[in-house]
Amino acid sequence: TGAFTYDPGFTSTASCESKITYIDGDEGVLLHRGYPIEQLAEHGDFLEVCYLLLYGELPTKAQKEDFDYRVTHHTMIHEQMSRFFTGFRRDAHPMAIMCGVVGALSAFYHDSTDITDPHQRMVASLRMIAKMPTIAAMAFKYHVGQPFVYPKNDLDYTSNFLRMCFAVPCEEYVVNPVLSRAMDRIFILHADHEQNASTSTVRLAGSSGANPFACIAAGIACLWGPAHGGANEAALNMLGEIGSVDRIPEFIARAKDKNDPFRLMGFGHRVYKNYDPRAKIMQKTTHEVLGELGIKDDPLLDVAMELERIALTDDYFVEKKLYPNIDFYSGITLKALGFPTTMFTVLFALARTVGWIAQWNEMIEDPSQRIGRPRQLYTGEPQREYVPVSKRN
Ligand code: CMC
Repeated sequence: TGAFTYDPGFTSTASCESKITYIDGDEGVLLHRGYPIEQLAEHGDFLEVCYLLLYGELPTKAQKEDFDYRVTHHTMIHEQMSRFFTGFRRDAHPMAIMCGVVGALSAFYHDSTDITDPHQRMVASLRMIAKMPTIAAMAFKYHVGQPFVYPKNDLDYTSNFLRMCFAVPCEEYVVNPVLSRAMDRIFILHADHEQNASTSTVRLAGSSGANPFACIAAGIACLWGPAHGGANEAALNMLGEIGSVDRIPEFIARAKDKNDPFRLMGFGHRVYKNYDPRAKIMQKTTHEVLGELGIKDDPLLDVAMELERIALTDDYFVEKKLYPNIDFYSGITLKALGFPTTMFTVLFALARTVGWIAQWNEMIEDPSQRIGRPRQLYTGEPQREYVPVSKRN
C-alpha cells in the first residue's frame, strides 16, 4: 500500500504555497492579497480586483487606466470563432458551450500559448479576462436565439457585458448603472477563492505544461458540478421547487434525512464554518437589485429568507455549522437581472477566470513547481495470471 497519507477530498493537504487569497473559515474572513473582500466589494471595481489578483498590488491611477485599456482592446474574439456557437444544438447548456469554445481559444491565439515567456503569459491572462464576457454573452445570445452583440470599447467591462447580453438590434439599450454596479460586485465576490476544486483543477492541468486556455477550459468543466459552481443554478431551482414558505419544513426534514440524498443547495461550505462573508454582501446586493427594479415581493426571496431563518436556528444545521454560502442569494439576484438559471454558472466562470489565471501564473513562476501527481491506496486484486477467453467460465 505504500507510505502515503490518505486524505480523501484533500481536507488536510496543502497542494501549494500561495500569496493570492487567504481564508479563515472559522472567522469568516476572506482576503485578496491582504485586502478584505468587504472593502474590495464596497470600494473597488472588478478590473481593479483583477489587477490586484494578477500583479499583487492595487494599481495606481495610471496603471489602472492602462490595464482597463488593454483589457478593453482584447474583448473581440476571432470572427471564425463565432461559427463554433452555431455548431451546438440550440438547447445546449451554455456551460457545455463554454467548455468547448474556451478550450478552442488555444487554436486561435498560438502566440500566447508559450508558457515560458512571462510577457506571453500576461497577454494570455489579459486575453482570457477580456474575452470571457464576449464568449459568455455569445453563449447566452445563441441560447436565447438572438443575434450576437459585439463589444463596445467606450463602456466599462461590466456594462459592456450587460449590453452584449441584453441589447437587441431593434432598440436602443441603455445600461442601468445600479444594475451594472451590482453585477460588477457579483464578479468581485467570485473572483478568487484559493484552492477550491476548479482552481486546483487549473493548477493540476497547468502543472503538466498545458497551455493556459486548455487549463481554464478544465477549470470550467470542474466548476460546472452542482457541489461547486453549479450550486447557484441548483439553489434557485430548489427555491422554485419549494415554492412557498409553508413547504419549507418538508424540505428541511428531507435535508436532515440520512436516507434522502437531498441537500439544501446554497448551504454549507468546506472551509467556512462560521459564515461565508461573500453571502452577506450578496444578500445586500440582492436587496439593492430588487429595489432598483421595483420588485417588491419576490416569492423566491420570501422562501430564501425564511429558509435561512429556520436553518440558522435548527439544531442539525447549527451543529454541522451549515450556513448560507455565496450561491444562496446569487441566483435570486441574477434572475432579477434577467439571466436564466442556465447562465448562472457561466457568470461564475467569467468572474473566476481571473482567479484561475492568477493562480496558474503563480504556479508557473514557482521554482518548486512539479507536475501534480497524487498517489493512491490500491485496493484492487493482487497480481494474477491471464486466462485465455476460451478457458474462462
Ligand atoms: N444540506 C444538508 N446537509 C448538508 C449540507 C446541505 N447543504 N451540506 C453538508 N451537509 C451535511 C452532510 O450530509 C454531512 O453530514 P454527516 O456528517 O452527517 O454525513 C455534513 O453536513 C458535512 O458535509 P460534507 O459533504 O462532508 O462537507 P463537504 O465539506 O465535503 O462539502 C459542500 C461541502 C459545499 C460540497 C456541501 O456543504 C454541499 O454539498 N452543499 C450544497 C452545495 C453548495 O451549496 N455548494 C456551493 C459551495 S460555495 C460555492 C463554491 O465554492 O463553489
